[in-house]
Amino acid sequence: TTSSNVSSTDIGFKAVPTSTANEVVVPEGYSTEAFLPWGTPITGSYPAYKPDGTNTGAEQEQQMGMHHDGVHFFPIDLKAGGNSSSEGLLVMNHEYINQGALHANGATYVNDMRPADEVRKEIAAHGVSVVHIKRDTNGKWDIVFGSPFNRRITGNTEMDIRGPVRGYSKLITKYSPDATETRGTLNNCAMGPTPWGTYLAAEENWHGYFANGDATQPREQTRHGVGSSSRYDWELADSAADQYVRFNVSTIGATAADDYRNEANTYGYMVEIDPFSPESKPQKRTALGRFGHEGVIFAPAKEGEPVVCYSGDDSRFEYIYKFVSSKPYYAATAGGYLLDEGTLYVARFNDDGSGDWLPLDLDDADFAAKVAAAEGTQVGDVQFDGFENQADVLLNTRLAADIAGATPMDRPEWGAVDPNSGQVYFTLTNNSRRTEEQVNAANPNANNRTGHIIRWSEEGNDHTATSFDWDIFVFAGEQGTETVVDDEVIVSLTDDNIFNSPDGLWFDYNGRLWIQTDGSDAAPYQNNMMLAANPETREIKRFFVGPEGCEVTGVVSTPDVKTMFVNIQHPDGNWPDSSDPRPRDATVIVTKDDGGVIGA
Ligand code: FEO
Ligand code: CA
Ligand code: CA
Ligand code: CA
Repeated sequence: TTSSNVSSTDIGFKAVPTSTANEVVVPEGYSTEAFLPWGTPITGSYPAYKPDGTNTGAEQEQQMGMHHDGVHFFPIDLKAGGNSSSEGLLVMNHEYINQGALHANGATYVNDMRPADEVRKEIAAHGVSVVHIKRDTNGKWDIVFGSPFNRRITGNTEMDIRGPVRGYSKLITKYSPDATETRGTLNNCAMGPTPWGTYLAAEENWHGYFANGDATQPREQTRHGVGSSSRYDWELADSAADQYVRFNVSTIGATAADDYRNEANTYGYMVEIDPFSPESKPQKRTALGRFGHEGVIFAPAKEGEPVVCYSGDDSRFEYIYKFVSSKPYYAATAGGYLLDEGTLYVARFNDDGSGDWLPLDLDDADFAAKVAAAEGTQVGDVQFDGFENQADVLLNTRLAADIAGATPMDRPEWGAVDPNSGQVYFTLTNNSRRTEEQVNAANPNANNRTGHIIRWSEEGNDHTATSFDWDIFVFAGEQGTETVVDDEVIVSLTDDNIFNSPDGLWFDYNGRLWIQTDGSDAAPYQNNMMLAANPETREIKRFFVGPEGCEVTGVVSTPDVKTMFVNIQHPDGNWPDSSDPRPRDATVIVTKDDGGVIGA
């Protein structure tokens, strides 16, 4: 071959136009196939999907959940140092559900109560799936039936509480009188693979699953918006089984024998799952904070150095966080214990393009002084009466970040770390409530309906640094939307790349940046999409458009970047199977017809 100065991150395909079609659109020379739709049997007795919606709760516990979101491919030989691109464990989140599609006749109520098996099915359609998949010699991917790795983790799976919040009195429930355990993970949006080959699932809008009809609520609920009724009315199941009762977190009705007032305090964490240990119990890693975790992204692990990861809190005016472990990383012994001790920081983006990481740690004199000064004052909607201890700080991470003086952002969604430059990117999806008075340099648009992507370099390119330099990678929007750097227009969006509400974000193993959208599907944007970007030149091209009504969320590839897995969440109508009246969330497998590298 001839030498070339074409960088490995150049975008080689012809951009696809916007689309309103109820199908997936990719560039010429690429093919797609829907894979692992909701209801696909993956474990146990492999109960078949029933298109009439009559699968039971027990059956759903053995089938793919709904609303596919963050996804990662673990090569099957990873633990042996391998890099297989033809066999692995595909692990993905199921964020929430479409009750209309899930049941034969939607959600039903009898005397204002919900049939318990409907609730069981809804809880089972949430959580995480681990699927052992393999590509045959014809290039077709399928489930490895009977594999011991195939597993469903649901909103009812037993889990441990780990880190500083473990054992804290505010997590005591009837189920766990010593505050060390809970059941289930819910509203798992994005995720992050760890440097030691496990998977962290984020708990995002968990507050919607709990009901509290009390006149006043504890700050651990008000700061998140737990309501008097829940999103799916699970607390109204016609069963006294405490797997349902626990979703009522009000004082009313709580007795010493049946007390779940603290159940909501066992949610809002990053949950570690070891896909290679099918019997392992998921671990809620509380040192990473409790908030509306969108996902997590790790900096490349370095031998003998702390582990560093970043996490966004996707709510209007919420924050971006960084965790730095106390203990050093050694590949031979690394494990989830590294996430149990360390410092949680929150980001302040200064208007001059610099930034600071503010520790949320009572042992830090600066933070302790801010906490002392705030005592007895009103912080947001909370009359602040102090923190009992560091566990209380982490349980109330948002409140701690308010007190520290973090920068309120335009809904931080996914993050990604550039494998070439080490820069950290975050999508800021939109924030229609920001006023002219509330703009700052990092969130400069009032009524920000289309979002932007911010990025930063840690000082000295050291991810443990406490300061950084940031800039805005791109502003999303209509044709002609400009991103200006030093008075020069670096990006001006065209028909090839208009987009809005960036959400999913991922650097592939060659360093191309993939941007997914969850925004308005009105003109001119049309259906949600995925674009590829060159981080050096900021060239951006639309690669993929999803079917009607969906968001495009979750992307990963095999290590050779020749098979890509892209999740389609909440499609409308009869996608992907036109003969099935039910929409089914699914993973789309993308390949290049010549077997080449995707995006090149
Ligand atoms: Fe579940 Fe913030 O998207
Ligand atoms: Ca979503
Ligand atoms: Ca998202
Ligand atoms: Ca979103």
